[in-house]
Amino acid sequence: MPAGLSIPMGLPAIPWPEDNLYSPARAELGKLLFFDGRLSANGVVSCAFCHEPAHAFSASTPLSRGVNGKSRVRHAQTLLNRAWGNSQFWDGRAATLEAQIASPLTNPDEMGMTTDGVVQKIRSIKGYGPLFAAAFGDSAITYDRITKAIATFERTIVSGNSPYDRYLAGDKSALTKQQKDGLDFFNKKGECAECHRGPNFSDEKFANLGVGTDRVNPDLGRFVVTKKRSDIGKFKVPTLRDLAHRAPYMHDGSIKTLSEVLDLYAKGGLPNPHLDTRLVPFYLDEETKRDLLAFLDSLSGEGWQNITPPTVFPQ
Ligand code: HEC
Ligand code: HEC
Repeated sequence: MPAGLSIPMGLPAIPWPEDNLYSPARAELGKLLFFDGRLSANGVVSCAFCHEPAHAFSASTPLSRGVNGKSRVRHAQTLLNRAWGNSQFWDGRAATLEAQIASPLTNPDEMGMTTDGVVQKIRSIKGYGPLFAAAFGDSAITYDRITKAIATFERTIVSGNSPYDRYLAGDKSALTKQQKDGLDFFNKKGECAECHRGPNFSDEKFANLGVGTDRVNPDLGRFVVTKKRSDIGKFKVPTLRDLAHRAPYMHDGSIKTLSEVLDLYAKGGLPNPHLDTRLVPFYLDEETKRDLLAFLDSLSGEGWQNITPPTVFPQ
């Protein structure tokens, strides 16, 4: 593990890419760029504008609006623990965090820039030069370096050391009786761990729960990337960490509470031609629901709360 960065318990080591290794200077530069509204066409829409730090780096509204005020079609999900993701976006269309960045930067409905435009803008801010020198060895400002710095910062947005992590590590008193009952249901009867598993509670695959399929023009999800009919309506299995801090839920932000999410699962999802066959209805009485909600609450941890938005930006 690199000096100057501590990883909360329960998470594996951060897999730093060979061509973008961690350094404190690189993460610090990435953090400034992430929070800097000047990377957008109107000077206000930073990455943090939609991925709100106090909301576990997700949007507090179902859908976000960018520089032109137009609503996006999907919910801006949490950026917690993305370092361990196999792909980015609800449909997995970006392979890496570095590659993902072009999308929000150049989307006219998000930050509304061009990649060249962003480079020109950052170059025109004299204070950034020395920070690029500290992060990359010389003060050249390139698009590649901008994405590398932002991605490095994103890999430091982590959540671990939750009561559940402490329980797994052997502290049997870290979970209450109710939470242990909820865990049991989660793993067995509820079959939640079929998809939500591993340290990040995601198998990194895609599944169709039917959310949004009752709309007039439903979001086709993973199908848009693969063009396989069996991928219609599939979305990436999201992490379940820090759920308490990041309502609303699902790819379209259509579900307001965790209690309603559980109701959907108890019904076996929303019927549609491509519904995942692993979803089967189950009986959810009030007590089991309380157990499950208590367990999900035990997945709230720490790490990301230590990231405070910069108060001063390079000039
Ligand atoms: C206007 C709002 C908005 C802005 C600004 C924005 N994003 Fe997003 N972001 C979204 C939405 C909406 C999604 C989900 C889109 C999808 O999955 O198709 C998303 C998805 C992501 C994901 C995928 C996470 C995952 O779990 O797969 C990453 C990473 C990300 N954004 C990083 C960034 C970075 C870095 C910036 C700044 C360069 C940024 N975003 C700016 C709205 C925004
Ligand atoms: C077949 C795979 C699968 C199973 C089984 C499954 N989930 Fe999910 N879960 C998903 C997918 C995919 C999504 C996102 C769906 C979407 O946005 O349309 C999701 C979303 C969620 C969300 C919302 C998270 C967010 O960030 O918006 C919660 C909470 C959740 N699941 C909990 C559970 C619980 C509890 C169970 C067991 C009762 C369960 N899941 C079983 C695949 C699964």
